[in-house]
Amino acid sequence: MRLLEKNTYEEMSVLCGRILGAQVLLKPDCALGLATGSSPIGAYEELVRQYEGGLLDFSQVRTVNLDEYCGLKAEHNQSYRYFMEEHLFGKVNIKKENTFLPDGCAGDVEAECARYEKLVAGMQVDLQLLGIGHNGHIGFNEPAEDFAAQVHQVKLAESTIKANSRLFKRMEDVPRSAVTMGIGTILKAKKILLIAGPDKADIVEKALYGPVTPQVPASALQLHGAVTVIISKQ
Ligand code: GLP
Repeated sequence: MRLLEKNTYEEMSVLCGRILGAQVLLKPDCALGLATGSSPIGAYEELVRQYEGGLLDFSQVRTVNLDEYCGLKAEHNQSYRYFMEEHLFGKVNIKKENTFLPDGCAGDVEAECARYEKLVAGMQVDLQLLGIGHNGHIGFNEPAEDFAAQVHQVKLAESTIKANSRLFKRMEDVPRSAVTMGIGTILKAKKILLIAGPDKADIVEKALYGPVTPQVPASALQLHGAVTVIISKQ
């Protein structure tokens, strides 16, 4: 595990965007595992800058996102599909058919989870980007009795609903469940890159140096051989 400390969100974002960009340069048809939330926004801006500067070509890149809310259509401005279009997909030359997220509106959620698990496994993610929740969740893997091996539907923790309510008009509008890659799904990525701001310092320390426990889902990253963590001090 490599831990890199940066002074500001901007510095963390530029470094994160450069690592993602380097992956695209090294392997133009790579599979990137992508994340949502406020943490990666600056990194996506950096990727867009590199694309606009002529450095990056996304025409062969494939992406697979960690998770999606249940019940939000792709056009909903808080769906993760919408987020990805806004911050990355709509700003670079990636092909829409090469971008994948779980379908949070699938009639048969179990079948959707199985479909997505197979899809992610088949893609062999080269580099998975992660943020982290204040309770240690990655994707939407909330603290639990066991690590979830595969893509599954999850009931969101009250603290997650509250944290994410800042982005919705009303508390009642926040979805109560989501479809997420499991911890096992995430750990199959060849390389993992986690970014976190200063408000996450305590949970990052627990996750990286504390016991490996499903009560701190991100602690499972200790079991992976190629994890880079970038934290910003402010
Ligand atoms: C959501 C996402 C996570 C993300 C977390 C932290 O719950 N499902 O993937 O890491 O929020 O978000 P933020 O970066 O906004 O703190």
